[in-house]
Amino acid sequence: CEESAMTHTEHVVDGMPTARGCPFSPPEELGALREERPIARMTYPDGHQGWLVTGYELAQEVLADVAFSARHDLRSSPIVMGGKLGPAQPGMFIGMDPPEHTRYRKPLSRHFTVRRVRELEPAIERIATACLDALEAGGSPADLMAAFALPLPVLVICELMGADADLAAELQKLRVPMLSAATPRAEVAAAARRTSELMHELVRARRAAPGDDLLSELIAVGELNDEELAGLTFLMLVAGHETTANMIAMSVYLLLQDEKARAALGDGSQVGDQTVNELLRYLSVVQFVSRAALKDVEIGGVLVRQGETVTISTSAVNRDGRRFEDPDTFHAEGGGVGSLAFGHGLHQCIGHNLARTEIRIALRLLLRRFPGLRLAASPQDVRTREAMNTYGVHELPVSW
Ligand code: HEM
Repeated sequence: CEESAMTHTEHVVDGMPTARGCPFSPPEELGALREERPIARMTYPDGHQGWLVTGYELAQEVLADVAFSARHDLRSSPIVMGGKLGPAQPGMFIGMDPPEHTRYRKPLSRHFTVRRVRELEPAIERIATACLDALEAGGSPADLMAAFALPLPVLVICELMGADADLAAELQKLRVPMLSAATPRAEVAAAARRTSELMHELVRARRAAPGDDLLSELIAVGELNDEELAGLTFLMLVAGHETTANMIAMSVYLLLQDEKARAALGDGSQVGDQTVNELLRYLSVVQFVSRAALKDVEIGGVLVRQGETVTISTSAVNRDGRRFEDPDTFHAEGGGVGSLAFGHGLHQCIGHNLARTEIRIALRLLLRRFPGLRLAASPQDVRTREAMNTYGVHELPVSW
Protein backbone atom coordinates (compact mmCIF):
# COMPACT_ATOMS: atom_id res chain seq x y z
CA CYS A 1 0.00 0.00 0.00
CA GLU A 2 2.82 2.33 0.98
CA GLU A 3 4.59 1.56 -2.26
CA SER A 4 1.58 2.29 -4.44
CA ALA A 5 0.93 5.58 -2.59
CA MET A 6 4.53 6.58 -3.25
CA THR A 7 4.27 5.71 -6.91
CA HIS A 8 1.10 7.76 -7.13
CA THR A 9 2.75 10.82 -5.53
CA GLU A 10 5.74 10.47 -7.81
CA HIS A 11 3.45 10.67 -10.79
CA VAL A 12 2.11 14.11 -9.96
CA VAL A 13 4.14 17.04 -11.33
CA ASP A 14 4.13 19.72 -8.64
CA GLY A 15 3.59 22.88 -10.70
CA MET A 16 4.79 23.84 -14.15
CA PRO A 17 8.59 23.46 -14.40
CA THR A 18 9.98 26.83 -15.57
CA ALA A 19 13.60 27.02 -14.31
CA ARG A 20 16.07 26.68 -17.18
CA GLY A 21 19.68 25.53 -17.14
CA CYS A 22 20.33 27.02 -20.59
CA PRO A 23 18.42 30.11 -21.77
CA PHE A 24 17.63 28.50 -25.13
CA SER A 25 16.43 25.11 -23.89
CA PRO A 26 13.25 24.15 -22.06
CA PRO A 27 13.52 23.12 -18.38
CA GLU A 28 15.22 19.72 -18.20
CA GLU A 29 12.35 18.07 -16.27
CA LEU A 30 10.13 18.58 -19.30
CA GLY A 31 12.40 16.51 -21.54
CA ALA A 32 12.43 13.68 -18.99
CA LEU A 33 8.64 13.82 -18.68
CA ARG A 34 8.20 13.66 -22.45
CA GLU A 35 10.09 10.37 -22.52
CA GLU A 36 8.29 8.84 -19.53
CA ARG A 37 4.78 10.33 -19.49
CA PRO A 38 3.98 12.67 -22.41
CA ILE A 39 0.71 13.41 -20.59
CA ALA A 40 1.22 13.69 -16.84
CA ARG A 41 -0.86 14.70 -13.84
CA MET A 42 0.06 18.20 -12.68
CA THR A 43 -0.89 20.28 -9.65
CA TYR A 44 -1.62 23.89 -10.63
CA PRO A 45 -0.72 26.88 -8.42
CA ASP A 46 -4.39 27.24 -7.36
CA GLY A 47 -4.45 23.60 -6.22
CA HIS A 48 -6.27 22.29 -9.29
CA GLN A 49 -5.30 18.76 -10.36
CA GLY A 50 -4.96 18.92 -14.14
CA TRP A 51 -2.56 17.69 -16.81
CA LEU A 52 0.68 18.58 -18.55
CA VAL A 53 1.38 17.51 -22.14
CA THR A 54 4.98 17.35 -23.38
CA GLY A 55 4.63 15.04 -26.43
CA TYR A 56 4.07 16.46 -29.93
CA GLU A 57 1.43 14.01 -31.12
CA LEU A 58 -0.72 14.36 -28.00
CA ALA A 59 -0.43 18.16 -28.13
CA GLN A 60 -1.75 18.19 -31.68
CA GLU A 61 -4.54 15.86 -30.64
CA VAL A 62 -5.66 18.13 -27.77
CA LEU A 63 -5.47 21.32 -29.81
CA ALA A 64 -7.47 19.80 -32.68
CA ASP A 65 -10.23 18.41 -30.45
CA VAL A 66 -13.25 20.65 -29.83
CA ALA A 67 -13.87 18.76 -26.59
CA PHE A 68 -11.05 20.95 -25.23
CA SER A 69 -12.20 24.53 -24.69
CA ALA A 70 -10.10 27.70 -24.91
CA ARG A 71 -12.44 29.58 -22.54
CA HIS A 72 -10.42 31.45 -19.94
CA ASP A 73 -13.08 31.15 -17.27
CA LEU A 74 -13.02 27.35 -17.40
CA ARG A 75 -9.33 26.75 -16.89
CA SER A 76 -6.62 27.15 -14.27
CA SER A 77 -3.37 28.94 -15.01
CA PRO A 78 -0.15 26.87 -14.91
CA ILE A 79 1.77 29.90 -13.61
CA VAL A 80 1.06 32.08 -10.59
CA MET A 81 -1.23 34.95 -11.48
CA GLY A 82 -2.80 37.69 -9.41
CA GLY A 83 -6.25 36.19 -9.79
CA LYS A 84 -8.43 33.94 -11.89
CA LEU A 85 -9.21 35.05 -15.42
CA GLY A 86 -12.89 35.82 -15.91
CA PRO A 87 -14.89 35.23 -19.09
CA ALA A 88 -13.25 36.73 -22.19
CA GLN A 89 -14.23 40.37 -22.79
CA PRO A 90 -15.97 41.26 -26.08
CA GLY A 91 -13.52 40.87 -28.98
CA MET A 92 -10.95 38.81 -27.01
CA PHE A 93 -11.61 35.73 -29.09
CA ILE A 94 -8.44 33.90 -27.98
CA GLY A 95 -10.47 32.93 -24.90
CA MET A 96 -13.68 31.93 -26.71
CA ASP A 97 -15.06 28.83 -28.43
CA PRO A 98 -17.16 28.72 -31.61
CA PRO A 99 -19.55 30.22 -32.56
CA GLU A 100 -18.37 33.43 -30.74
CA HIS A 101 -14.76 32.72 -31.74
CA THR A 102 -15.67 32.33 -35.42
CA ARG A 103 -17.67 35.54 -35.48
CA TYR A 104 -14.56 37.58 -34.59
CA ARG A 105 -11.84 35.55 -36.27
CA LYS A 106 -13.47 35.14 -39.69
CA PRO A 107 -13.63 38.81 -40.75
CA LEU A 108 -10.09 39.31 -39.45
CA SER A 109 -8.34 36.40 -41.16
CA ARG A 110 -8.27 37.88 -44.66
CA HIS A 111 -6.10 40.69 -43.31
CA PHE A 112 -3.35 38.24 -42.35
CA THR A 113 -2.96 36.16 -45.51
CA VAL A 114 0.46 35.69 -47.13
CA ARG A 115 -0.54 38.19 -49.86
CA ARG A 116 -1.70 40.87 -47.39
CA VAL A 117 1.44 40.50 -45.31
CA ARG A 118 3.60 40.73 -48.44
CA GLU A 119 1.95 44.06 -49.21
CA LEU A 120 2.96 45.23 -45.75
CA GLU A 121 6.65 44.36 -46.25
CA PRO A 122 7.78 47.85 -47.41
CA ALA A 123 6.12 49.40 -44.36
CA ILE A 124 7.77 46.85 -42.04
CA GLU A 125 11.15 47.57 -43.65
CA ARG A 126 10.60 51.30 -43.23
CA ILE A 127 9.69 50.87 -39.54
CA ALA A 128 12.60 48.49 -38.85
CA THR A 129 15.03 50.88 -40.56
CA ALA A 130 13.78 53.81 -38.46
CA CYS A 131 14.20 51.73 -35.26
CA LEU A 132 17.75 50.80 -36.32
CA ASP A 133 18.55 54.46 -37.06
CA ALA A 134 17.42 55.35 -33.53
CA LEU A 135 19.43 52.47 -32.05
CA GLU A 136 22.57 53.54 -33.90
CA ALA A 137 22.08 57.21 -33.02
CA GLY A 138 21.85 56.30 -29.31
CA GLY A 139 25.36 54.80 -29.57
CA SER A 140 26.99 51.58 -28.42
CA PRO A 141 26.30 49.84 -26.02
CA ALA A 142 22.49 49.74 -26.06
CA ASP A 143 19.59 47.60 -24.92
CA LEU A 144 18.38 45.89 -28.09
CA MET A 145 15.11 44.91 -26.46
CA ALA A 146 14.06 48.48 -25.58
CA ALA A 147 15.52 50.14 -28.67
CA PHE A 148 14.58 47.66 -31.38
CA ALA A 149 12.74 44.43 -30.51
CA LEU A 150 9.91 46.05 -28.51
CA PRO A 151 9.14 49.11 -30.70
CA LEU A 152 9.11 47.26 -34.03
CA PRO A 153 6.06 44.99 -33.49
CA VAL A 154 3.97 47.66 -31.77
CA LEU A 155 4.68 50.12 -34.58
CA VAL A 156 3.70 47.46 -37.13
CA ILE A 157 0.39 46.81 -35.33
CA CYS A 158 -0.23 50.57 -35.22
CA GLU A 159 0.43 50.77 -38.97
CA LEU A 160 -2.05 47.94 -39.50
CA MET A 161 -4.71 49.67 -37.38
CA GLY A 162 -4.16 53.17 -38.70
CA ALA A 163 -2.96 54.51 -35.31
CA ASP A 164 -0.92 57.73 -35.29
CA ALA A 165 2.59 58.26 -33.87
CA ASP A 166 1.37 59.67 -30.51
CA LEU A 167 -0.76 56.63 -29.84
CA ALA A 168 2.10 54.34 -30.91
CA ALA A 169 4.43 56.13 -28.48
CA GLU A 170 2.03 55.73 -25.55
CA LEU A 171 1.35 52.07 -26.34
CA GLN A 172 5.07 51.38 -26.37
CA LYS A 173 5.36 52.73 -22.87
CA LEU A 174 2.40 50.76 -21.52
CA ARG A 175 3.52 47.29 -22.69
CA VAL A 176 0.55 45.63 -20.96
CA PRO A 177 2.50 42.78 -19.35
CA MET A 178 -0.76 40.87 -19.09
CA LEU A 179 0.46 37.52 -17.90
CA SER A 180 3.45 38.52 -15.87
CA ALA A 181 3.62 37.07 -12.38
CA ALA A 182 6.35 39.50 -11.35
CA THR A 183 4.41 42.68 -12.06
CA PRO A 184 2.07 43.85 -9.30
CA ARG A 185 -1.49 43.07 -10.28
CA ALA A 186 -2.62 46.69 -9.80
CA GLU A 187 0.03 47.87 -12.24
CA VAL A 188 -1.01 45.31 -14.83
CA ALA A 189 -4.67 46.29 -14.38
CA ALA A 190 -3.91 50.02 -14.72
CA ALA A 191 -1.83 49.49 -17.89
CA ALA A 192 -4.55 47.24 -19.34
CA ARG A 193 -7.24 49.83 -18.51
CA ARG A 194 -5.31 52.66 -20.15
CA THR A 195 -4.59 50.51 -23.24
CA SER A 196 -8.26 49.64 -23.49
CA GLU A 197 -9.19 53.36 -23.28
CA LEU A 198 -6.72 54.11 -26.07
CA MET A 199 -8.23 51.33 -28.19
CA HIS A 200 -11.72 52.81 -27.69
CA GLU A 201 -10.39 56.23 -28.73
CA LEU A 202 -8.80 54.67 -31.81
CA VAL A 203 -12.05 52.96 -32.84
CA ARG A 204 -13.96 56.26 -32.43
CA ALA A 205 -11.31 58.11 -34.48
CA ARG A 206 -11.44 55.58 -37.34
CA ARG A 207 -15.23 55.63 -37.31
CA ALA A 208 -15.18 59.43 -37.62
CA ALA A 209 -12.46 59.49 -40.27
CA PRO A 210 -12.02 56.10 -41.99
CA GLY A 211 -8.65 55.34 -43.54
CA ASP A 212 -7.03 52.60 -45.57
CA ASP A 213 -6.45 50.28 -42.59
CA LEU A 214 -7.72 47.06 -41.02
CA LEU A 215 -9.83 48.75 -38.38
CA SER A 216 -11.58 51.07 -40.87
CA GLU A 217 -12.37 48.05 -43.04
CA LEU A 218 -13.84 46.14 -40.10
CA ILE A 219 -15.95 49.20 -39.22
CA ALA A 220 -17.17 49.38 -42.83
CA VAL A 221 -18.26 45.70 -42.72
CA GLY A 222 -20.52 46.79 -39.86
CA GLU A 223 -20.80 43.47 -37.99
CA LEU A 224 -19.01 44.45 -34.79
CA ASN A 225 -19.84 47.26 -32.36
CA ASP A 226 -17.25 49.66 -30.90
CA GLU A 227 -16.83 47.66 -27.69
CA GLU A 228 -16.05 44.52 -29.71
CA LEU A 229 -13.73 46.35 -32.10
CA ALA A 230 -11.79 47.87 -29.20
CA GLY A 231 -11.45 44.40 -27.63
CA LEU A 232 -10.25 42.94 -30.89
CA THR A 233 -7.65 45.67 -31.33
CA PHE A 234 -6.54 45.20 -27.72
CA LEU A 235 -6.11 41.47 -28.31
CA MET A 236 -4.02 42.05 -31.40
CA LEU A 237 -1.73 44.30 -29.45
CA VAL A 238 -1.38 41.96 -26.49
CA ALA A 239 -0.93 38.86 -28.65
CA GLY A 240 1.37 40.41 -31.24
CA HIS A 241 3.65 42.67 -29.21
CA GLU A 242 5.68 40.87 -26.54
CA THR A 243 5.59 37.58 -28.47
CA THR A 244 7.24 39.03 -31.57
CA ALA A 245 9.57 41.25 -29.52
CA ASN A 246 10.85 38.31 -27.49
CA MET A 247 11.26 36.18 -30.60
CA ILE A 248 13.41 38.90 -32.19
CA ALA A 249 15.47 39.43 -29.02
CA MET A 250 15.92 35.71 -28.31
CA SER A 251 16.92 35.06 -31.93
CA VAL A 252 19.59 37.76 -31.73
CA TYR A 253 20.75 36.43 -28.35
CA LEU A 254 21.08 32.94 -29.83
CA LEU A 255 22.99 34.16 -32.88
CA LEU A 256 25.37 36.12 -30.67
CA GLN A 257 26.08 32.95 -28.66
CA ASP A 258 26.14 30.38 -31.45
CA GLU A 259 29.08 31.12 -33.72
CA LYS A 260 28.17 28.42 -36.22
CA ALA A 261 24.65 29.77 -36.67
CA ARG A 262 25.92 33.33 -36.92
CA ALA A 263 28.43 32.35 -39.59
CA ALA A 264 25.73 30.50 -41.54
CA LEU A 265 23.56 33.62 -41.65
CA GLY A 266 26.41 35.88 -42.79
CA ASP A 267 25.40 39.47 -43.40
CA GLY A 268 21.74 38.64 -42.84
CA SER A 269 20.84 37.96 -46.47
CA GLN A 270 20.71 34.22 -45.66
CA VAL A 271 17.92 34.69 -43.13
CA GLY A 272 15.01 33.13 -45.01
CA ASP A 273 11.69 31.56 -44.09
CA GLN A 274 13.35 28.25 -43.19
CA THR A 275 15.71 29.90 -40.69
CA VAL A 276 12.79 31.77 -39.13
CA ASN A 277 10.70 28.58 -38.82
CA GLU A 278 13.61 26.89 -37.09
CA LEU A 279 14.11 29.83 -34.72
CA LEU A 280 10.42 29.66 -33.84
CA ARG A 281 10.66 25.92 -33.12
CA TYR A 282 13.92 26.09 -31.23
CA LEU A 283 13.03 29.09 -29.07
CA SER A 284 9.24 28.57 -28.66
CA VAL A 285 8.69 31.82 -26.78
CA VAL A 286 5.01 31.15 -26.09
CA GLN A 287 5.99 28.47 -23.60
CA PHE A 288 2.58 26.90 -23.11
CA VAL A 289 -1.07 27.02 -24.08
CA SER A 290 -3.95 25.62 -22.01
CA ARG A 291 -7.37 24.14 -22.58
CA ALA A 292 -10.21 22.84 -20.38
CA ALA A 293 -12.02 19.55 -21.03
CA LEU A 294 -15.72 20.09 -21.77
CA LYS A 295 -16.38 16.37 -21.22
CA ASP A 296 -14.48 13.24 -20.18
CA VAL A 297 -11.90 12.43 -22.87
CA GLU A 298 -9.53 9.49 -23.10
CA ILE A 299 -6.21 10.57 -24.49
CA GLY A 300 -2.72 9.05 -24.44
CA GLY A 301 -3.93 6.26 -22.19
CA VAL A 302 -5.35 8.54 -19.46
CA LEU A 303 -8.84 9.78 -18.70
CA VAL A 304 -9.09 13.55 -18.64
CA ARG A 305 -12.22 14.42 -16.69
CA GLN A 306 -14.65 17.17 -17.61
CA GLY A 307 -13.47 20.50 -16.11
CA GLU A 308 -9.80 19.55 -15.91
CA THR A 309 -7.19 21.87 -17.39
CA VAL A 310 -4.64 20.50 -19.84
CA THR A 311 -1.51 22.58 -20.39
CA ILE A 312 0.67 21.96 -23.41
CA SER A 313 4.32 22.81 -23.02
CA THR A 314 5.01 24.19 -26.48
CA SER A 315 8.72 24.34 -25.80
CA ALA A 316 8.90 20.65 -24.80
CA VAL A 317 6.66 19.55 -27.68
CA ASN A 318 8.86 21.38 -30.20
CA ARG A 319 11.87 19.38 -28.99
CA ASP A 320 10.16 16.01 -29.44
CA GLY A 321 12.64 13.69 -31.16
CA ARG A 322 9.76 11.62 -32.57
CA ARG A 323 8.75 14.60 -34.70
CA PHE A 324 11.96 16.63 -35.23
CA GLU A 325 15.38 15.34 -36.16
CA ASP A 326 18.18 16.21 -33.74
CA PRO A 327 15.69 18.44 -31.86
CA ASP A 328 18.06 20.01 -29.34
CA THR A 329 20.32 21.47 -32.02
CA PHE A 330 19.52 24.71 -33.84
CA HIS A 331 19.71 24.13 -37.59
CA ALA A 332 20.26 27.51 -39.28
CA GLU A 333 19.38 26.06 -42.69
CA GLY A 334 15.90 25.07 -41.46
CA GLY A 335 14.01 22.17 -39.96
CA GLY A 336 11.27 23.79 -37.89
CA VAL A 337 8.36 23.23 -40.29
CA GLY A 338 5.37 21.80 -38.42
CA SER A 339 6.36 23.16 -35.03
CA LEU A 340 3.62 24.23 -32.63
CA ALA A 341 5.23 27.60 -31.90
CA PHE A 342 2.05 29.28 -33.18
CA GLY A 343 -0.27 26.69 -31.67
CA HIS A 344 -2.51 24.42 -33.73
CA GLY A 345 -6.16 24.05 -34.70
CA LEU A 346 -8.89 26.69 -34.43
CA HIS A 347 -6.80 29.09 -32.35
CA GLN A 348 -3.59 28.82 -34.33
CA CYS A 349 -1.98 32.26 -34.31
CA ILE A 350 -3.78 34.51 -36.77
CA GLY A 351 -0.66 36.70 -37.03
CA HIS A 352 1.81 33.94 -37.91
CA ASN A 353 2.59 35.23 -41.42
CA LEU A 354 3.02 38.73 -40.09
CA ALA A 355 5.24 37.59 -37.20
CA ARG A 356 7.46 35.49 -39.51
CA THR A 357 7.90 38.46 -41.85
CA GLU A 358 8.72 40.84 -39.00
CA ILE A 359 11.33 38.44 -37.60
CA ARG A 360 12.93 37.86 -41.03
CA ILE A 361 13.11 41.58 -41.84
CA ALA A 362 14.34 42.48 -38.34
CA LEU A 363 17.19 39.96 -38.42
CA ARG A 364 18.22 40.71 -41.99
CA LEU A 365 18.42 44.46 -41.48
CA LEU A 366 20.06 44.18 -38.05
CA LEU A 367 22.83 41.82 -39.17
CA ARG A 368 23.48 43.96 -42.24
CA ARG A 369 23.66 47.19 -40.25
CA PHE A 370 25.86 45.88 -37.43
CA PRO A 371 28.27 43.20 -38.74
CA GLY A 372 30.24 43.42 -35.47
CA LEU A 373 27.22 43.08 -33.16
CA ARG A 374 28.05 41.35 -29.88
CA LEU A 375 26.66 40.78 -26.41
CA ALA A 376 27.62 43.58 -24.00
CA ALA A 377 27.08 41.50 -20.84
CA SER A 378 28.01 38.06 -19.65
CA PRO A 379 25.23 35.55 -20.38
CA GLN A 380 24.56 35.10 -16.61
CA ASP A 381 23.61 38.77 -16.45
CA VAL A 382 20.99 38.57 -19.19
CA ARG A 383 17.73 38.24 -17.22
CA THR A 384 15.27 35.79 -18.73
CA ARG A 385 11.48 35.64 -18.33
CA GLU A 386 11.21 32.10 -17.00
CA ALA A 387 7.90 32.03 -15.17
CA MET A 388 6.00 33.99 -17.77
CA ASN A 389 3.64 32.90 -20.48
CA THR A 390 5.87 34.55 -23.08
CA TYR A 391 9.46 33.52 -22.45
CA GLY A 392 12.31 35.83 -23.44
CA VAL A 393 14.61 38.45 -22.00
CA HIS A 394 13.96 41.57 -19.97
CA GLU A 395 16.80 43.36 -21.72
CA LEU A 396 19.53 42.45 -24.20
CA PRO A 397 22.67 44.59 -23.84
CA VAL A 398 24.60 44.73 -27.13
CA SER A 399 27.53 46.66 -28.53
CA TRP A 400 28.95 47.09 -32.05
C1 HEM B 1 -2.80 33.11 -31.00
C2 HEM B 1 2.02 32.61 -30.77
C3 HEM B 1 2.56 36.89 -33.04
C4 HEM B 1 -2.23 37.56 -32.91
C5 HEM B 1 -1.54 32.60 -30.78
C6 HEM B 1 -1.26 31.29 -30.22
C7 HEM B 1 0.08 31.15 -30.15
C8 HEM B 1 0.67 32.37 -30.67
C9 HEM B 1 0.86 29.96 -29.60
C10 HEM B 1 -2.31 30.22 -29.84
C11 HEM B 1 -2.86 30.42 -28.46
C12 HEM B 1 -3.80 29.29 -28.05
O1 HEM B 1 -3.98 28.32 -28.77
O2 HEM B 1 -4.35 29.40 -26.96
C13 HEM B 1 2.58 33.74 -31.35
C14 HEM B 1 4.00 33.96 -31.51
C15 HEM B 1 4.14 35.16 -32.15
C16 HEM B 1 2.81 35.69 -32.37
C17 HEM B 1 5.10 33.00 -31.06
C18 HEM B 1 5.39 35.88 -32.57
C19 HEM B 1 6.52 35.31 -32.85
C20 HEM B 1 1.30 37.40 -33.28
C21 HEM B 1 1.02 38.61 -34.01
C22 HEM B 1 -0.34 38.80 -33.96
C23 HEM B 1 -0.89 37.71 -33.20
C24 HEM B 1 2.06 39.49 -34.71
C25 HEM B 1 -1.20 39.89 -34.56
C26 HEM B 1 -0.89 41.05 -34.88
C27 HEM B 1 -2.78 36.42 -32.35
C28 HEM B 1 -4.19 36.27 -32.11
C29 HEM B 1 -4.36 34.98 -31.56
C30 HEM B 1 -3.05 34.38 -31.47
C31 HEM B 1 -5.28 37.30 -32.39
C32 HEM B 1 -5.68 34.32 -31.17
C33 HEM B 1 -6.13 33.41 -32.28
C34 HEM B 1 -7.39 32.65 -31.96
O3 HEM B 1 -7.73 32.47 -30.79
O4 HEM B 1 -8.06 32.23 -32.92
N1 HEM B 1 -0.34 33.22 -31.06
N2 HEM B 1 1.90 34.82 -31.86
N3 HEM B 1 0.12 36.88 -32.81
N4 HEM B 1 -2.11 35.28 -31.94
FE1 HEM B 1 -0.12 35.01 -32.01
